[in-house]
Amino acid sequence: MAFDAKKFIEKQVAEIKKTVGNSKAVVAMSGGVDSTVVSVLGSRALNNNLTAMFVDTGLMRAGEREQVESIAKQAGINLRIIDAGKQFFEKLSGVLEPERKRKIIGELFIRIFEEEAKKTKAEFLLQGTLAPDWIESGGGKRASIKSHHNVGGLPEKMGLKLVEPLRDCYKHEARLLARALGLPPSISERQPFPGPGLAVRIVGEVTSERAEIVRKACKIVEEEIEKAAASGEAERPWQYFASLLCSKTVGVRGDERAYQYVAVVRAVRSLDGMTANFSQLPPALLQRISTRITNEVRDIGRVVYDVTNKPPGTIELE
Ligand code: XMP
Repeated sequence: MAFDAKKFIEKQVAEIKKTVGNSKAVVAMSGGVDSTVVSVLGSRALNNNLTAMFVDTGLMRAGEREQVESIAKQAGINLRIIDAGKQFFEKLSGVLEPERKRKIIGELFIRIFEEEAKKTKAEFLLQGTLAPDWIESGGGKRASIKSHHNVGGLPEKMGLKLVEPLRDCYKHEARLLARALGLPPSISERQPFPGPGLAVRIVGEVTSERAEIVRKACKIVEEEIEKAAASGEAERPWQYFASLLCSKTVGVRGDERAYQYVAVVRAVRSLDGMTANFSQLPPALLQRISTRITNEVRDIGRVVYDVTNKPPGTIELE
């Protein structure tokens, strides 16, 4: 049966009202399609009893914070911004193992949430968890591949009751909901962004400097691919970004020997992120991305393109 977005919205708004009642709720509004949809549904159901929070982890994409502010304003959502970058980088200092990074980020995120939620007297936490998030975290019969931020990172006793209106939805359905809610294409067509943010795009230690490097590279990949898709030069991939390797390689800058980081460009075709094929991007587009990254991000001296499907690879490098 086809997914009926309008009916789903009505049903979920009613469900949220029923579950939360006259209590207060909080939602993590990250700027992605899922959390924005949940924030709008929650705000329709609860009005001022909902507080949306944007935790600035220092691991967000360029312009993310400003966009969240603007959407919340347009949709009349009560938004609170928490600057937490310093705390995240301190906790991640010296941590190399991907699953530890995920757990640290998930736990700190929820702890900050709990503290802030206490101030609002909230009892409920609304989350934009999608079906693949919990299936891949070992929620079904499958083996746990990665502990996704929305599930695996949560401490057992978080003190807030969880409401997950999109738990049975896949990404394409979240986009249908965003369109039906009247959200702009910059949200409804926005590519997915992982809960742990840029941390899973930084192989090795996560520092604010390395986050800044990968943030700049991601922005270039997004700009070039979106331009190419708009002009019809290339198909718009399902997800596209850059990651940073921990190793450096030798290159030349002017007449000098350089020793700089390697950026991995990743672009994939997918329906729901469960499986994916690498996008066959035109060589001229790859060339432009590589030239811009090495020119504009001085710490990157080499750009490679990831030609791995999922499986055996995953979409994110960590
Ligand atoms: P992987 O790397 O597991 O990614 O193939 C599949 C999709 O999920 C996103 N992703 C996450 N989303 N929390 C999320 O909400 C997470 O911890 C997380 N890790 C990966 C990834 O960007 C891709 O779209």
